[in-house]
Amino acid sequence: MNATATPPARRQLQTPQPPASPFPYNPGSLLSVMDLGLPAIGQLLARATALENQDPLTRDRILLKRRIALLFYESSTRTRTSFELAAKSLGADTTLVSSLSSSIEKGETLKDTGLTLRALGAEAIIIRHSSSGAPWLLEQETRLPILNAGDGMHEHPTQALLDLRTILAHIDPSSKAVILSDRGSAPKDCHPERTGPQTALSSLGVVSEGSASRVAAELTSQINEKTLEGVTVTITGDILHSRVARSNMLLLPRLGARVILCGPTQLLPDSAANAGPGITVERDFEAALRQSQVVMMLRIQAERLAGQQIDLAQYKDAYQLTGQRLAAHAPKALVMHPGPIIRGLALTAGVADGPQPAILGQVRHGVAIRMAVVERALLSDRDHS
Ligand code: CP
Repeated sequence: MNATATPPARRQLQTPQPPASPFPYNPGSLLSVMDLGLPAIGQLLARATALENQDPLTRDRILLKRRIALLFYESSTRTRTSFELAAKSLGADTTLVSSLSSSIEKGETLKDTGLTLRALGAEAIIIRHSSSGAPWLLEQETRLPILNAGDGMHEHPTQALLDLRTILAHIDPSSKAVILSDRGSAPKDCHPERTGPQTALSSLGVVSEGSASRVAAELTSQINEKTLEGVTVTITGDILHSRVARSNMLLLPRLGARVILCGPTQLLPDSAANAGPGITVERDFEAALRQSQVVMMLRIQAERLAGQQIDLAQYKDAYQLTGQRLAAHAPKALVMHPGPIIRGLALTAGVADGPQPAILGQVRHGVAIRMAVVERALLSDRDHS
C-alpha cells in the first residue's frame, strides 16, 4: 500500500430528514413517520402524556361530537380498538367501516368510499389498507385529515410512535440501561413517570393539567438526535413484509438509535442495510442479541408471503426468541412485539409470559399516542418543523 496516498474521502452519512411534501397534505394528516420533524414528535409525546393524565371529564370535551371514521380493509385488534378508545376519550363520535360488512364488498372503490364518508360528515378518516400508498390516495381525493393505521408493506407510523414511547419509558436517560418494570404492572408501564424509576420518558417531565404547554416546549427541545444515542434496537423476523419495521427504521435512527435488522435472506434482503444511516443487517440472532438493549420481534406475515415457503422448523431454530437464548445473550434487554403474537413461533410462551416483555405496555402506550395523533388531526394547524 502506498503510505503517501490520500485516503478516499469518508462518505458522510446523514440522518434523513422529512422531505418536502409531494402535495400539500391536510395539516392534520399523519401518513408517514417522515411527516414529523423531531420537534413535532416531541410535541406528540408531550400531548400523549398530558392527555393520559387529564381528567376524563374535561378530556372528553376536546373533540366533543366531532366525527371520525375508521376505515379498515384489513383485520386489526390493537390499532382499531386503541384508535377508537382514543377518539372516544376525547369525546369524538366514531364509526367503523370494515371491508367485510360494507359496500366495499360490492366493489366500491377507495375513492368513492372516502367521498361517501366525507359526505356523511366524517371530519377525519383512520385507514388500514393492504395496498401500500392507499392513505395517500384517500388524502388526495378527500382532502380530509387521514391517519395511516398501516398500509400494506409500507408504514405504520403510530406503531413506531408508540414503540418509541415504550422505549423511552424503559431507558435510563444517562446510562441508557433498560429498566424493566414488573410484568403486567399497568400503572408502572402506563405512567412510569409517576411510580417507576427515572426513565428517559419521566425525565422529560411529569405533566399536570395547565402545565402541558410548558412541558411540550421542554419535550420539544429534549427530543433530539441524541435522545437514543447508545441504544441498540434489534428488529428480528419478517422485515421484508413489515410496515412496523419500516416505520421504526425510519424513526429510531433519527433519535440516535442503532438499528440491527435480523432474519433469513428470504425475509430480509441484504439491501436492507442501505435503508439509511444507523441500520445494519446481522444474520446471527445471538450476535445481535448480545449487542441490544431492545429486541423487537416480528410475526411472519403469512398473508403477504405470496407463495414463498418458509421452513418453520429451520426458522425457529435460528430466530425464535427462547428463554435460553434470552438468558444467555440478552438477560437485561427489553422485549417488544407489535402483536399479534403467535406463541411458539417468533417467541416462546415462556418468554411472552416472562419478566422482559413490554408487549402489553406497548398496547397501553398506543392509546395515549393515538389520543395525541387524533387531537392533532382535528385541531392542529400542523407545524412540520
Ligand atoms: N400492531 C398492530 O398493528 O396490531 P393489530 O393488527 O392488531 O392492529
